[in-house]
Amino acid sequence: MSAMIFNFGSINVDHVYRVTDMPLPGETLTAGSYQKLLGGKGINQSIAIARAGGRPVHVGAVGGDDSWTMAQVKSFGIDTANVAQSKHPTGHAVIYVDDAGENQIVIYGGANQDLQPAQIERAFKACDGGDHWVLVQNETNLLSDIVAQARTAGFKVAYSAAPFVADTVAELIDRIDLLAVNEIEAQETARLLGVDVSEIAVPELLITRGSRGAEFRSHGTVHHHPAFEVDAVDTTGAGDTFLGSFLAGHSRGDEIGRSLRYASAASALQVTRPGAAAAIPDRDQVETFLKQQDI
Ligand code: RIB
Repeated sequence: MSAMIFNFGSINVDHVYRVTDMPLPGETLTAGSYQKLLGGKGINQSIAIARAGGRPVHVGAVGGDDSWTMAQVKSFGIDTANVAQSKHPTGHAVIYVDDAGENQIVIYGGANQDLQPAQIERAFKACDGGDHWVLVQNETNLLSDIVAQARTAGFKVAYSAAPFVADTVAELIDRIDLLAVNEIEAQETARLLGVDVSEIAVPELLITRGSRGAEFRSHGTVHHHPAFEVDAVDTTGAGDTFLGSFLAGHSRGDEIGRSLRYASAASALQVTRPGAAAAIPDRDQVETFLKQQDI
C-alpha cells in the first residue's frame, strides 16, 4: 500500500473569465465567457494525486453555508471528512484567461485562512506514523504548526511555495524534505537565501519550467524531463497537476524519471482543457498519451 499524502490545502471557487487580452490598468473589458469552477492549489493537487493513483487525505475548510463547493470536492472523489465548515466564506479566485491560455489570478483566502489546530491532530489520527507525506502550500494558515507536527509524527514534508511568501519560505526552508517551485519561485527563493538556484539547500527540489520542462535535484543528482508539446488553452492549475502527479509516484517509490515523465504528461494534457481541477486527467488518459510519445 502506498503512502498517504496529508494535504493541508486551499479550496477555492474559481471565477474564470475568458478574455482576448489581459486588461491594462484602468481598462474595462468584456469577458467572452464566465465559468464558476472548483479550484485552489490545494484541492487541485489532491485531485491530481488521486487521479495518479496516490492516496490524498485532504484537510481544509469551506464556508459553512457553501454546499456547492463541498459537493464539488466530493464529486472529484475526494473525501470531505477533514474539510471543516468555517464561519468565513469559501476562498475564491478571480481568474482571467487570455487567448494564449495564460492567466492572471487574484485570490481571497476566506475559510482557507481559518484552518484550526485541532484539524491537524484529527487528520494524523488516521494512521500511526509510517512513511507518509504531508503537503502544504501558501494558501492556508497554520503552516508552521502543520510542519512541526508532521515532523514529530515522522512524516516527510513537501512544500509548494506558491503563491510565493518570502517570510514563510524563510521559516520553513530548513524543515522540509521537498520544495516544489516554478521557475520564478525558484529564483525568488534563491534570492531570499542569497544563493544560486542550484545551491538551494533542501533534500529534494522540484522545479517546473512550463514549456521548458521540469527538473528534480537531490543530493547533487539532477533529473530533467522536457515538456511534451501541446496546444495550451488554459494553463491554470498546471503546476498543481504536475506536483500532485509527481508526488503520487514519488510517495509510492516510483523512480524519479518515471514520476517526472508521468507528471509532465499529466500537466501537458491538463493545459489542453479549460479550468483547473476539472482539467486534470486520470491515469488511463495519461498512460494512453504516454504510449503515443517518444520522449
Ligand atoms: O494554481 C491554480 C489555482 O490557483 C487556481 O485554481 C486558483 O484557485 C488559485 O488557487
